[in-house]
Amino acid sequence: MFVYLDNSATTQVRPEVAQIMAKTMTEDFGNPSSLHRMGVNAEKILKKARAQVAAALNASPDEVFFTSCGTESDATVLRGVWESRKKQGRRIITTAVEHPAILRSCEALAREGADVIYLPVNRDCTFDTDALRAALTPDTILVSVMHVNNEAGSIMPLAQIRREIDKVNKGILFHTDAVQSFEKLDTDVHRLGVDMLSLSGHKIHACKGIGALYVKKGLYIQPFMLGGGQESGFRSGTENLPAIAGLGEAVRLAEANKAERIAHIADVRNYLKQLLMENIENITVNSPEDGVCSVLNVSFLGCRGEVLLHTLEQDEIYVSTGSACSSHKKGSHVLTAMGLTDEQIEGAIRFSFCEDNTREQMDFVCEKLKAAVASQRRLRSAFKRK
Ligand SMILES: Cc1ncc(COP(=O)(O)O)c(C=O)c1O
Repeated sequence: MFVYLDNSATTQVRPEVAQIMAKTMTEDFGNPSSLHRMGVNAEKILKKARAQVAAALNASPDEVFFTSCGTESDATVLRGVWESRKKQGRRIITTAVEHPAILRSCEALAREGADVIYLPVNRDCTFDTDALRAALTPDTILVSVMHVNNEAGSIMPLAQIRREIDKVNKGILFHTDAVQSFEKLDTDVHRLGVDMLSLSGHKIHACKGIGALYVKKGLYIQPFMLGGGQESGFRSGTENLPAIAGLGEAVRLAEANKAERIAHIADVRNYLKQLLMENIENITVNSPEDGVCSVLNVSFLGCRGEVLLHTLEQDEIYVSTGSACSSHKKGSHVLTAMGLTDEQIEGAIRFSFCEDNTREQMDFVCEKLKAAVASQRRLRSAFKRK
């Protein structure tokens, strides 16, 4: 049985999305900047997709800019805010558990003089607002906190963070990386209280290499892609129209049945969690009780997650040991920041779900995992005895 449980790394492109993309490549292939009919038609496609993404964020279409990925959206915010505001202040506040797309950019800005504060997290991978309060200064230029953590699935209290920011200085910009929450949680930018929001297409059944950035109307951040002035001068480069049209379609599909889809994903996730807790001894559930529907992080003590991953792969079950971007490196910075033991970190597996997963698949996964865990524990204890 094929069971794909790595949907936080990437998702399968929906046939409807692929179809629209193919049509945009082969038939509606005009350049949206061209003045002739083909260009006007391409521009219509661009406009439609922008309106679809904007509606899902409760934003206005002129607040949405297409980028090449979530990483580019994140980098645009950090670099752009720094370049436009470094004369006003040098403090940037983020968390210790952000995606490398944020962390690496912060490190680069710190080398240029930014005073970056990394807020610690608790065992549930969310943070105490006391730490934020202590870090906020009136000359802070940016607070960037992810909406959902990609490894633990924890949900960060964005609206509460906004309130804390406003108590200090309403002018401090607030960005969220919503790559893992878009179409899984409410991402109404007004309710969240954010000025900027990053999202990525390939986590919601669009293709890889397309992202978007919401920037609140009236807010200027310096672009770093200069050229033909596309995307209102905010992100030059001929628009990736097939991928943009595909993203619009993926959003349309996701919005069409959002509540049932989320309820189904949560049901499958909770079912697997229950099965694992009842059938496999010595495990710890690392995801918080109130985390996002799509992520379940579990440690199988006495096992190496990577070995389990490859054992499951033989049965066509695909999971992850952490985020795809960091899985080749030693130890997860997220699980470390949560205070997990080395044994828990070593034995951690991230299961990440989408609406295609079923309870029947979870029965199969639990059965195979139980055998894989038992055999690895047996081997390791035999090896230790020698
Ligand atoms: C939280 C988060 N931010 C950013 C990214 C990067 O997105 P992209 O792969 O589109 O660059 C990811 C991808 O895993 C992610 O999980």
